[in-house]
Amino acid sequence: MMVSPVQSRGVQVVRLHDVSVRLGQLWALRDIELTVQAGERVALVGANGSGKSTLLRTMHGLLMPVQGRVDRHPDGRQAMLFQRPHLLRMSALHNVALGIWLDRSQGLNWAQSKARALEALQRVGLSAVAHQGGRQLSGGQQQRLALARAWGRQPDVLLLDEPTASLDPHAKREVEALMADFANGQEHPLTLIWASHNLGQVKRLATRVVYLEGGHVLADLPVAEFFNAAVLALHSPAAHAFVQGELL
Ligand SMILES: Nc1ncnc2c1ncn2[C@@H]1O[C@H](COP(=O)(O)OP(=O)(O)OP(=O)(O)O)[C@@H](O)[C@H]1O
Ligand SMILES: [Mg+2]
Repeated sequence: MMVSPVQSRGVQVVRLHDVSVRLGQLWALRDIELTVQAGERVALVGANGSGKSTLLRTMHGLLMPVQGRVDRHPDGRQAMLFQRPHLLRMSALHNVALGIWLDRSQGLNWAQSKARALEALQRVGLSAVAHQGGRQLSGGQQQRLALARAWGRQPDVLLLDEPTASLDPHAKREVEALMADFANGQEHPLTLIWASHNLGQVKRLATRVVYLEGGHVLADLPVAEFFNAAVLALHSPAAHAFVQGELL
């Protein structure tokens, strides 16, 4: 598979310039400046309600800013994994194939979509259950199925909203390993942007950490600096207090 220009390091894949988003009366995001480059693995952290999901949805074009601009690389393809995957009442294979087939930018017919879907299921270790109902799979399997559906569309940028939140430790590790594999994938390296409440996971997977509070980005640092208490305290006392609280 060819590496597209959107996967060359240093290329800007998404840029938010002065972005504010309102949800009803609430300013869910305020004055966000954020540029993500190809190959980065950006973790979004912050308390419940801080704006992580809103930021992901805005990056994916599902929410429109009332102010500012979201620019995506014109040749880039994004896929998003929601916190609770919406699986359809059909086989695992068809769940993935339909996602690929419906994405008209792929230009694949149904047979080709199914072939690609099978490949994606193999990639996440689910080929044995390809013909079982997607909704009958375990929570961990469903999450891997949703990952296959996103990955099967061969995105350059993968957005994930708390991809391991509802999983047991074993399933969590499996999904984490897949995320790492995807990010490093020789055949199709990805840019990862994901929301997480698991700081251990952030430390293991992220290259960069963005801390949100009340819709503001209060820290945006390389992972080593974010987890250096002295550096973080200097940079953002609020982010430092958050991390200390999470580590208790
Ligand atoms: N549809 C909506 N209408 C109005 N307010 C909303 C809506 N969705 C979210 N909000 C509010 O926007 C703020 C940001 O929510 P968001 O879901 O982005 O937070 P989050 O960081 O993802 O939280 P969590 O960790 O719980 O997933 C919260 O105050 C939330 O209550
Ligand atoms: Mg959320």
